[in-house]
Amino acid sequence: MKKAIVIGASSGIGRELAKILSENGYVVGVMARRLHLLEELSDEIKSKSFLQEIDAADTHTAMETLANFITEMGGADLIVISAGTGDINNDLSWQLENKTIRTNVIGFAALANVAIHHFIEKGSGHLVGISSIAALRGGGESPAYNASKAFESNYMEGLRQKIRRLRLPITITDIKPGFVQTAMAKGEGIFWAASANKAAKQIYNAIKRKRTRAYITRRWRLIAWLLKIIPARVYERL
Ligand SMILES: NC(=O)c1ccc[n+]([C@@H]2O[C@H](COP(=O)([O-])OP(=O)(O)OC[C@H]3O[C@@H](n4cnc5c(N)ncnc54)[C@H](OP(=O)(O)O)[C@@H]3O)[C@@H](O)[C@H]2O)c1
Repeated sequence: MKKAIVIGASSGIGRELAKILSENGYVVGVMARRLHLLEELSDEIKSKSFLQEIDAADTHTAMETLANFITEMGGADLIVISAGTGDINNDLSWQLENKTIRTNVIGFAALANVAIHHFIEKGSGHLVGISSIAALRGGGESPAYNASKAFESNYMEGLRQKIRRLRLPITITDIKPGFVQTAMAKGEGIFWAASANKAAKQIYNAIKRKRTRAYITRRWRLIAWLLKIIPARVYERL
């Protein structure tokens, strides 16, 4: 049986994806800070599952915790980093910017590092990172969030190039959701918001197809195209 770890599985997209993976024959390991929600999820998952508390923002402990969890599960074929945070930050509070950077930048890179080392050692594997459509441009409502998501996408591209040189069957998938109906979808102007279940189903398809990147839902490709072509002087006035 294939083994998958979903980091950030206590709610939202990660939770739905963990359920879909278990329904499709994976032994699933779920991680996040809110242990009680992981326990509820574990009860819902009928097949064998593992769970472990982790705080991605506490990098040193998080790396050790993930490495030990992989060992406890007897290895992992798929590791999904869905853990992420983001707030509307109109006051540009450093506390919020700092939390976002520690979780989405340092935490993300640290967890990806453990995952990639495991896959290199094992000779194969699949890393999935949930970045965002926000990765494509800066964001005035939450500068650290958009920048952190750009980091995640860029980091995954770099890892992909590195892995290609090693000629190992390791896949790295960058998932770029638009809006998804979870606690993370904050602020005004939310549109085309998919349910977490629909988003997770499309993510599972992208995983099966070993896609390099995928916009979730698919129609967000159009917004991505628009975001890429809007000149900076126009974008900055929006
Ligand atoms: N919803 C959207 O519209 C949207 C759009 C684009 C991208 N995304 C991305 O999708 C990913 C999942 O978010 P979501 O929409 O499913 O929102 P969510 O329901 O708030 O889920 C966030 C998950 O990340 C975990 N998490 C947050 N901080 C963590 C930390 N320090 N250590 C470990 N786990 C942590 C949370 O678990 P605990 O709190 O229990 O630790 C939770 O399981 C995020 O990376 C987000 O940026 C979401």
